Amino acid sequence: MSNRPFRKFDHERDIKSVQRIWVECGWIDDEDHDKEVVSDLFRLGETEVGTIDDEAECSVHWTEGKIRYQNETLDLGAVTAVTTSHIARKLGFAKVLTARSLARQHEVGKSVSALGIFEQGFYDKIGYGTGPYENLVQFDPASLKVSYPFRPPKRLTDADYKQMHGALCNRRKFHGAVDLHPAESVRFELKSTDKPFGLGYYDGPDGRLSHFIWGERKGEYGPYDITIRAYQNREQLMELLTLVKSLADQVSSISTLEFGEFQLQDLLNQPFRTRRSTKGGNYAQLLEAVAFWQIRILDLEACLAKTHLPGPGVRFNLELTDPVYEILKGETGWQGISGDYVIDLGEESSARPGSESGLPRLKASVNAFSRLWFGVRPATNLAITDELYGDAQLLERLDAAVRLPKPHFGWDF
Ligand SMILES: CC(C)(COP(=O)(O)OP(=O)(O)OC[C@H]1O[C@@H](n2cnc3c(N)ncnc32)[C@H](O)[C@@H]1OP(=O)(O)O)[C@@H](O)C(=O)NCCC(=O)NCCS
Repeated sequence: MSNRPFRKFDHERDIKSVQRIWVECGWIDDEDHDKEVVSDLFRLGETEVGTIDDEAECSVHWTEGKIRYQNETLDLGAVTAVTTSHIARKLGFAKVLTARSLARQHEVGKSVSALGIFEQGFYDKIGYGTGPYENLVQFDPASLKVSYPFRPPKRLTDADYKQMHGALCNRRKFHGAVDLHPAESVRFELKSTDKPFGLGYYDGPDGRLSHFIWGERKGEYGPYDITIRAYQNREQLMELLTLVKSLADQVSSISTLEFGEFQLQDLLNQPFRTRRSTKGGNYAQLLEAVAFWQIRILDLEACLAKTHLPGPGVRFNLELTDPVYEILKGETGWQGISGDYVIDLGEESSARPGSESGLPRLKASVNAFSRLWFGVRPATNLAITDELYGDAQLLERLDAAVRLPKPHFGWDF
């Protein structure tokens, strides 16, 4: 495989080609500001490129992160940008380079990999399984039922990226919460925002930013799109919602990913009536559910060592298939996690290579097993739509064993 046209990205040599790919993909305009933002991104994380005539025509970029599994934290590889130029499509570049990046993520100790998807199906070919629905809400800020005292916030700009990164890392976290590193990865998001607005409060130790919202203004009356938000406790959340409400004299509509752990509809006045009366309009109240991120296990033993599930335990033989094996089988090093394992799920969980006689058997793709482990759907559901096969009794025992809150990244990438 050494004659394959893949190599490590070299910023000086390759950045112009990568910028050209991004322009071709329509991800950026052919303008200096946009190209500079991409150039900065590619100084972070790791990238490999696929080449034609030694020119980079495909690039796969990933960066470091952390991901919460209940109260535990796992090392994450976050695949942040996969792009192929117009002259290199359908050659397998994106698939192979993403699989190679998984091998690299595993090599440097990442237990899990995650990414945002452009469509369902493509990353399934390298073992990713789809996360749960996230709710996208669009609402009239005037209809928010919050009565917290208003305090003038401070303005935030992309120059404050370190403060915002700190506030994100210190935010209130639940199952599935992701942090990306280094801080400059946030700067990329901030600098990529058209017509940005950022507002926040510096209540942290030493006057650090504690809670904030960041987003994009569309038009005079909205919708304002909140793309990043962080808070540490209920009071800060209420203060942010009060801040959002304070814009309502002018702004008719705010859109945001639901903050995750609470139900925004609880805080809306007459949500059904408003939905009826705004239907079809520019400022319609909307609630849309979409599953747009995927996850996969890279190191099964490490993931299960950090899995603590109260309730009845279950022990079984797992026959796991990983499509990465077919893609990387000629290479040296990690080739996925296909194989037989004895799995214990319970207060103390584990995965051990091999099998044991007398145990029930579960057959699964790494895609489906990752979804089960992460709590995306119960086993009996996955057995209907995904590659997860076991007898009814085992599936029901798995349903009883894996009862996790719905996971949310809380950080878009
Ligand atoms: C998505 C993208 C990176 C794919 O690049 P590529 O190098 O052409 O991809 P590959 O050659 O590795 O794989 C293409 C194969 O995947 C298949 N595929 C694409 N989308 C798929 C889907 N949703 N489900 C199943 N298969 C899919 C293609 O049909 C093709 O199959 P074929 O080789 O059998 O014809 C490229 O189209 C691109 O840059 N798009 C714009 C940017 C973008 O959306 N990037 C992804 C960000 S998450």
